[in-house]
Amino acid sequence: MHMSIEMCRIFKAAFVLTLATLEVTCAQWLPTLYEYYTSEGIRSSLEAPASGFLLNGKELTIFSGSIHYFRVHPSLWQDRMRKLRAAGFNTLETYIPWNLHEPERDVFDFGDGKRDFSMFLDVRAFILLAQEEDLFVIIRPGPYICAEWDFGGLPSWLLRTPNIKVRTSDPQYTSRVKIYFDMLLPQLSDLQFSQGGPIIAFQIENEYGGFGPYSDPRDKNYLEFIKKTFEDNGLEELFFTADSPVPSGDIGSLPGVLQTANFNKDPIIQLEALKNLQPDRALIVMEFWSGWFDHWMEGSHQTGLTPKVFEENMEKVLSYNSSINLYMFHGGTTFGFMNGANVINYLPYYAPDASSYDYDAPLSEAGDYTEKYRIVERIVAKYSKVQTKTPDKPLESRKFAYKPIKFYQYMNMEDILNNIGEEDKTVINTMQSMEELPINNGNGQSYGYVNYRKHIVLSANSTLKVSGHIRDIALMLLDNEQKTKSPTNVTDLNGFGFWPNGDREFPFKEEDAGEHTMDILVENAGRVNYGGPQDFVQKKGLWEGPVTLDGVEQLGWEVTALQFKSEWVRGDFVFRLSSWRQGSSLRAAGPILQRGLFEVEGEPADTWLDFSQWGKGIAFVNGFHLGRYFSAGPPKTLYIPAPLLKSGTNEVIIFEHYETASELIFQDHPIFI
Ligand SMILES: *[C@@H]1O[C@H](CO)[C@@H](O)[C@H](O)[C@H]1NC(C)=O
Ligand SMILES: *[C@@H]1O[C@H](CO)[C@@H](O)[C@H](O)[C@H]1NC(C)=O
Ligand SMILES: *[C@@H]1O[C@H](CO)[C@@H](O)[C@H](O)[C@H]1NC(C)=O
Repeated sequence: MHMSIEMCRIFKAAFVLTLATLEVTCAQWLPTLYEYYTSEGIRSSLEAPASGFLLNGKELTIFSGSIHYFRVHPSLWQDRMRKLRAAGFNTLETYIPWNLHEPERDVFDFGDGKRDFSMFLDVRAFILLAQEEDLFVIIRPGPYICAEWDFGGLPSWLLRTPNIKVRTSDPQYTSRVKIYFDMLLPQLSDLQFSQGGPIIAFQIENEYGGFGPYSDPRDKNYLEFIKKTFEDNGLEELFFTADSPVPSGDIGSLPGVLQTANFNKDPIIQLEALKNLQPDRALIVMEFWSGWFDHWMEGSHQTGLTPKVFEENMEKVLSYNSSINLYMFHGGTTFGFMNGANVINYLPYYAPDASSYDYDAPLSEAGDYTEKYRIVERIVAKYSKVQTKTPDKPLESRKFAYKPIKFYQYMNMEDILNNIGEEDKTVINTMQSMEELPINNGNGQSYGYVNYRKHIVLSANSTLKVSGHIRDIALMLLDNEQKTKSPTNVTDLNGFGFWPNGDREFPFKEEDAGEHTMDILVENAGRVNYGGPQDFVQKKGLWEGPVTLDGVEQLGWEVTALQFKSEWVRGDFVFRLSSWRQGSSLRAAGPILQRGLFEVEGEPADTWLDFSQWGKGIAFVNGFHLGRYFSAGPPKTLYIPAPLLKSGTNEVIIFEHYETASELIFQDHPIFI
C-alpha cells in the first residue's frame, strides 16, 4: 500500500497532467486507516503520552463522533458510519444502555429478545460494522450513561430495592452492576484493538465529578470497582474518565486513569485546566457538544452553539493539539419511552426531554448533511496529520409526505383497560409507584402509564387531593370522561395534574355529585438522567402521599399498568381486534386509541407525522413505538425512518391524551418551533 503511494508520487512527478486529476488518482492509492495503523502487525494499544496519542506506536489524532446504536435504525447504521468516515473522522463513540440490555433482572437482550428495541441491541454487530467501515471505536459502558436517556441508562427495577444508592459502592447496587458487566464485557473483549478488533478505549462511569455538589468527596471505591470489573473481564485498552475540568477538577477521576474533558465553550480555559490536572498525558475532549437537546415546552429548538462559534471552538480545540469526540455527530431519535429528563431550579423544576434527538449535529435526525457537517469536514481535513482513504459521501435519503392517515377504528379508556391482561392488574390499599407493582416477574413497571381506579361517591362540590407530587402527569376521568385539560404553556403546569407543585386539589362541580368510577391515569414522562444523588431517587405514579376525597383517605385501588409493550401492541391475540370500535372518531376527547392506515407506493421513504394540531401522546407505526409527541413542542413531528415502513398498506396507532385533531398528516421535513 505504501508502495502505491510512492508510485503515485513518482507518477505525479514524471507526467504532466492536470492537478485535479492527480489528486483523485493519488487519493485512490491512500491506505485505509487499518492498513496505515495495523498492516505491520499489532504491537501496542492506544497510549497517551503528553506529546499526543500513539496507536500501535504511530501518532494518532483522534477525530471521533458519537452515534448511538440504540438511537438509529440498524438498517441505517452503515449509512451514518460512512458519513462519519467520509468527513475524515477515524473513530466512532457509543454508550451502552444497561436498561435496554437487562430489561428485567437477569433477563438479557443483546438482539435476541422480542422487545421493540431488540433489533437495536446487537452491540457486537454495531462495533464490527464500524471496523468494516474503517473506523476505530471508543466504548462508554457506563453503567450510568446520562445521554438524555431514561434514568441515565439505569434499569428502573433497581428502584425496587429500598434505599439503594445507585452510582456508589452500595453493595445492593454494585452486585447488580457486576452481574450485568459479567454478561456484557466478555462480549467486548475480543473486539479490542489488541486482539485485532476496533475498540481502542473504554470509559469508566460517566461525568462522575458531576454527581452532586463539587464540595462533596466522591466515592472513589465505586470507580475502582468499575475499573476492576473491566480488568477482571479482560478489558485492557486505554481507560479514561470524562468530566468538565471546570468546575469538576479531578473529583471524578482515578489515579493513573486518563482524564478527558467535556464542554462546548471556553475551550482554552477548559484545556488548560485539564493540562494542569495531568501535565504528562495527551489531551482529548471526550464530549465536545456539537449542539443541544430539547425539553418539552422549552419555547424553541435548542441548537447549543451557532455554526460560527462551533467552528471557532472546534478549531481552538484542535490547534491546542487535542483530540476530539463530537457529542453528537448524529443524534438520531429517542424512540419509545426512553427519554430522560433534567432537574432545573425554575418552573417546571423537572424538564423531560423530547423524543427527537436531532441535537443540531453535523448529521440531522434523518441523517442529512447540515452546515455543521461541512464545517467539520473542512476542519478535520485541515488538522489531519495522517492521510488515509475515505469513502464517497453517501447520498441523502429520499423524503416523502404520504397522504393523510385514514383512521377507521378506536378504543376509549374503558376499552383499553379491558384489553389489558390480568397479569398487569393488581389491587392495592394505599398508593404505590409503578416500580413497586407486583408485575413483570417481580420487576415492577418500568415505562408508560399507570392507572389508579376507584369507585367514589361525590357530594356537591367535593374536592380531590393528591398529597405530594404527581409523577409526572395525571389525567383524571369520571365514568370514562376526562376532567383534566391539556397544558398550553409552562404556567398551566401549576394546576392540578402536573408535577411541579405538591398537594394539588381538584374541585368537582355541583353536578358531579353522585356515584362514579374515577380513573387517575399517570404518565411516567421519563426519569431524570443527570444530577446529584438526590435526583436519582425517582419513582413514578402516585406514591408520595395519600389521595383524599373531602379530607378522607381513599383506600383500595384497582391498578392497571399500561406499558404499550410491542408484543401487546402487535400481538393480535391480546389486542382483541373485535373490541376495537368501528369509526374514525376524529376530534374526539382523549384518552383515546386511534387506529389508521396509509399507503406506501414503491420503496418507502423517510417521513414525519405532523402532530401540530394534536394534543399529547404516543405513536406506533407497524407496531413500533416511535416516541412521544406534544404539540407544545419544540418538535411537533415524529420521525419515521424508511426501514420501519413497507411497500403497500402500513398501520398507525395513536394514543392521544387530550383531543385528536380532524386529521393526521405527513410532512417531508421535521417541524420545530
Ligand atoms: C501544539 O504542537 C505544536 C507542534 O508540536 C507546538 O508548536 C504548539 O506549541 C502546541 N500547542 C499547544 C497549545 O501546546
Ligand atoms: C357549590 O359551588 C357553587 C359555586 O361556587 C355554589 O353556587 C353552590 O352553592 C355550592 N353548593 C353547595 C352544596 O355547597
Ligand atoms: C397560559 O395558557 C393559559 C390558557 O391555558 C392562559 O390563560 C395564560 O394566560 C397563559 N399564560 C402565559 C404566561 O402565557
